Amino acid sequence: MASPALISRTHPWEDLKAHVEDLKGTHLRDLMGDADRCRSMMVEFDGILLDYSRQRATVDTVDKLLKLAEAASLKEKIHHMFHGERINTTENRSVLHVALRAPRDAVISSDGKNVVPDVWDVLDKIKDFSERVRSGAWVGATGKALKDVIAIGIGGSFLGPLFVHTALQTDPEASEHCRGRQLRFLANVDPIDVARNITGLCPETTLVVVVSKTFTTAETMLNARTLREWISSALGPDAVSKHMVAVSTNLPLVEKFGIDPKNAFAFWDWVGGRYSVCSAVGVLPLSLQYGFSIVENFLKGAYSIDQHFYSTSLEKNIPVLLGLLSVWNVSFLGYPARAILPYSQALEKFAPHIQQVSMESNGKGVSIDGEPLPYEAGEIDFGEPGTNGQHSFYQLIHQGRVIPCDFIGVVKSQQPVYLKGEIVNNHDELMSNFFAQPDALAYGKTSEQLRKENVSQNLLPHKTFTGNRPSLSILLPALTAYNIGQLLSIYEHRVAVQGFIWGINSFDQWGVELGKSLATQVRKQLHASRVKREPIEGFNYSTTTLLTKYLE
Ligand code: F6P
Repeated sequence: MASPALISRTHPWEDLKAHVEDLKGTHLRDLMGDADRCRSMMVEFDGILLDYSRQRATVDTVDKLLKLAEAASLKEKIHHMFHGERINTTENRSVLHVALRAPRDAVISSDGKNVVPDVWDVLDKIKDFSERVRSGAWVGATGKALKDVIAIGIGGSFLGPLFVHTALQTDPEASEHCRGRQLRFLANVDPIDVARNITGLCPETTLVVVVSKTFTTAETMLNARTLREWISSALGPDAVSKHMVAVSTNLPLVEKFGIDPKNAFAFWDWVGGRYSVCSAVGVLPLSLQYGFSIVENFLKGAYSIDQHFYSTSLEKNIPVLLGLLSVWNVSFLGYPARAILPYSQALEKFAPHIQQVSMESNGKGVSIDGEPLPYEAGEIDFGEPGTNGQHSFYQLIHQGRVIPCDFIGVVKSQQPVYLKGEIVNNHDELMSNFFAQPDALAYGKTSEQLRKENVSQNLLPHKTFTGNRPSLSILLPALTAYNIGQLLSIYEHRVAVQGFIWGINSFDQWGVELGKSLATQVRKQLHASRVKREPIEGFNYSTTTLLTKYLE
């Protein structure tokens, strides 16, 4: 493949830069008055409605963004991803998380080998194992059924599964399947996280799943050793084979750790950590908790969006539109952050997961060829479910900084409540906010409106809302396992689209290495000072002072 020119040197990029000026005097209040424009900014697929009419964009803007996509060879890049080309060039890897949710008869190849049969071998193994554990056919060392699971992992080996677990917990169908069972996640190396996780659990009835792509991550391995000790000190060292299993690409290290390779669930280097929730990383713990059939529906939902992303024309393609609009907001309108605001408590772990997917993928400073970027890539993602967020950071979003918002709503609540005497049911109450907030941001409130309400002169500037603050709304029909899979896939592909346009490698993460290696140096020093009483050496004044205070 020839080296791509930086996208900022293309005509469509220049054109969009100039186009920002065209929009300077245009307020969202005016744009929202044009019903034809709004109609053209709605896309529906498989029950999901995307409404991006509250973006600071005209039909012309979208045309220009589509031209930018062409200049960035977006279609070709998507094609390369789905066809197993080694688009993660710095690690010389394919990027094939879409193969993880492909049906059994699909053909998706990496290096000329169809990887789908391997994927299904592992899925079949998970189905079999999780059914044996759930039915009590697989028991612990003392013959008791394993009703509780602690999944140890961090980053991509934690956040995605936690998000899906949290979202499924209140789904009526999924919760039917997990009576009497618990799934917990141990991520932080902080011993407090260990304490929290084992509190109330008994080693006799607990299965520990060690999840690590590399099986070298310091936090995960220390936590794994800690829980191995928890099990073997209670039940004897032989109990480990009954109480610990692993998910990894590094099966030799799994075995070296003392986990029977028969009890290891593989995945492959073409699955990036933050894109691994559909591999055994997520599928094993979630199947243990909810049963394989629920998790299969989750994979089907993700697959549905994969197909949409691969084959739908760009102007009707939900992840593509979302990605292009984010590029527009970051690179042209200059908004560096994005708020992810699901109006569903079940999605409380969605923003933290997308934070990693997005910020670890697109937080880059050089192009895929290593050229420093003359523009910023990536954005700061954060979020909270509505309405909680409204009572926290929405003040800043309404009257402070401009932060494009993703409002995510659900038509059918997982847990509807109808309270006698209320004018609407509880879910309608929640959704009233979902529908109101985007308009509050877009329209704002003028001083004229306030004057008509007899607001006193001195309060006018404080009560004025400038409006013209962009958002988009995504309405899901429900929040079943299938819909959760759809949502995941939409965001994964959106992030990829942004990276493809910015011309970066969204699939490596070298930026996490430096801190890790400096921690190794500190770890050695702490050991030397505590055990051998050696002085602190080789650190700057600040770190030396902090370390001295800590060691005192
Ligand atoms: O934070 C860096 C990172 O490498 C992530 O990309 C990854 O998801 C996480 O650490 C955990 O890695 P592993 O699954 O190898 O333990």
